[in-house]
Amino acid sequence: MSQVRIIEVGLRDGLQNEKTMLSVGTRLELARLLAEAGSRDLEIGAFVSPQWVPQMAGSRELILQVLEERELKSSPFRRTELSALVPNRRGLDDALSTGIERVAIFASATEAFSKKNINCSVKESLVRYADVVSEARRHKKTVRGYLSMCFGCPFEGKVAPAKVVRLAEKLIEMGCDEVSIGDTIGIADPKQVKALIRSLISAVGRRHLAMHFHDTRGTALANILASLDLGITSFDTSIGGLGGCPYAPAATGNVATEDVVYMLHRMGVKTGLKLDKLIEANHFATTKMGRELSSKVGRAGLPRLIPV
Ligand code: HMG
Ligand code: MG
Repeated sequence: MSQVRIIEVGLRDGLQNEKTMLSVGTRLELARLLAEAGSRDLEIGAFVSPQWVPQMAGSRELILQVLEERELKSSPFRRTELSALVPNRRGLDDALSTGIERVAIFASATEAFSKKNINCSVKESLVRYADVVSEARRHKKTVRGYLSMCFGCPFEGKVAPAKVVRLAEKLIEMGCDEVSIGDTIGIADPKQVKALIRSLISAVGRRHLAMHFHDTRGTALANILASLDLGITSFDTSIGGLGGCPYAPAATGNVATEDVVYMLHRMGVKTGLKLDKLIEANHFATTKMGRELSSKVGRAGLPRLIPV
């Protein structure tokens, strides 16, 4: 494996579960720093109910600002593509009105989490999403499908891999370009990850898969290595390790972007990202959140005498 794609979800998954709410202006500054660090895939916000997730209010303004700046020759956003979550048709219409190029729907592998997160059953969500995806595709948008609780659920316990595979197939059949397989509560281990990925590859094909590991219990880097072993090349990460899902108890942040990039660069795997710039973005986020973030590389910095 010589190159992987990093999808930066810090501005969405990262911020949605933080008590400190950042203004649109601060989120824009963080987005700029991430783009300067080389982020090409930026999940920048969510068109969800502000009653449910107040941290994502202002996503529209943020996206419009970035899209305006992207037109400028000197803009760090020139090569950055934006994405936002849409839970229903209302969210999609709001997203489409900004001109954003990608949207993401988010389904669950378990009933209990589906109810808690989007207030409907898995079946109802699929009906709703089929309409959202076909409309998004009619507008020539790229669509990502998230699948949560793929390795275990805080409300239902074990999740059958066959169920995850069936749902991933449905998302692809519906028209999603890729499925992001979520370890929402950071419970997975590398053996379990490999077993599920093998089944998913036979069902939907490797190129349609991305992995989304939260690092609640410290297994995310190991899970990424296990995924790499099976040829997976798309990973969701969050600057500083910010975040989690507000509707999943004990879901702490995604694996930190800079920790993943450090490991990959040391292994000779390219990401297109600049570690020193990511550390700058980490420091900015740390200052704005007013607390130390979980990223190890963010805390330690780069080794002084050893090139990464
Ligand atoms: P609901 O209450 O069932 O919605 O929520 P409703 O259709 O009954 O409407 C109620 C009110 O919400 C109405 O307003 C609607 O207009 C409004 P009112 O008439 O009362 O003034 N509304 C909206 N407002 C703004 N944007 C919208 C929207 N839709 C309806 N799109 C709903 C259903 C889906 C809206 C709600 O449950 C929701 O917003 N959920 C989002 C939860 C969320 O964002 N969770 C975090 C993201 S998922 C995640 O983190 C996991 C992931 O990272 C992967 C992993 O880690 O596994 C992706
Ligand atoms: Mg998540």
